[in-house]
Amino acid sequence: MKVLRTVKDLKEFVLTLKNEGKTIGLVPTMGALHAGHISLVERAVKDNQSTIVSVFVNPTQFNNPNDLATYPRNEQADFDLLESAGVTAAFAPSVEEIYPPEDADKDVHVFDLGKVAEVMEGKFRPGHFQGVAQIVSKLFRMVEPTHAYFGEKDFQQIAVIRRMAKTEGIDIDIVSCPIKREEDGLAMSSRNVRLSANQRAVAPGIYEALRYSTEYSMQHSVQATHDTVVERINAIPECEVEYFSIVDGNTLENISDWEDSDYIVGCITVYCGEVRLIDNITYRK
Ligand code: PAF
Repeated sequence: MKVLRTVKDLKEFVLTLKNEGKTIGLVPTMGALHAGHISLVERAVKDNQSTIVSVFVNPTQFNNPNDLATYPRNEQADFDLLESAGVTAAFAPSVEEIYPPEDADKDVHVFDLGKVAEVMEGKFRPGHFQGVAQIVSKLFRMVEPTHAYFGEKDFQQIAVIRRMAKTEGIDIDIVSCPIKREEDGLAMSSRNVRLSANQRAVAPGIYEALRYSTEYSMQHSVQATHDTVVERINAIPECEVEYFSIVDGNTLENISDWEDSDYIVGCITVYCGEVRLIDNITYRK
């Protein structure tokens, strides 16, 4: 596996792959890789003749400086995992390489992300999706993959990236891959390593409440289902729901009745101590 550090090296490598007639799959990541990421990588390796994985903690998508400072990083372990998964190249640039200080005044494009970016994460993390669109569009333009792979844990992110690709005229097949869970149900996340032993022990209660709510929803209204999830999770020590929204899976608009849509997803963010965890559950598809 090649490790590429500069945009110039990445573009040259991409050109070589294209000249060899190889299709390219791209998996954008922020490193601290776990089995969830590896499931995306394995899918990319299976679908494409070459796979490039970016490993870059993108500062422009962090609205909370402490979250950026404490984001887990473990580059060598990431490279080892990617190499064993059959990745062709890892792209692991510095912040200055992606955002050269001399280009600061040119990098001011505001993406038209529409309503899907205004709700949920968009509301609670101002600027987050502009930062995601900024880095993902750069990566799309540098690599020009045929397919790009994203995990469904970040359900809203996928909708925002699809919208960004459409409004920016970028023709890439965006592949969404199922959430990977620990055996006890906790959605895999790079942030899980920041949970204390006690927090890690109670955090599976988030998915337990979501799963319980799929049964509960069959006999109860949207509002009652919403409230029972919030109550159950807030009753877990150290856990506090930031938001839980039951939405149309395409528009991400809140629904008020189960008959409002034939694709319904519940998206949740919970603080477990200082650690912000997100998850989601499909009620109808
Ligand atoms: O989902 C993530 O890890 C990040 O938001 C992404 C897509 C790699 C962009 O930095």
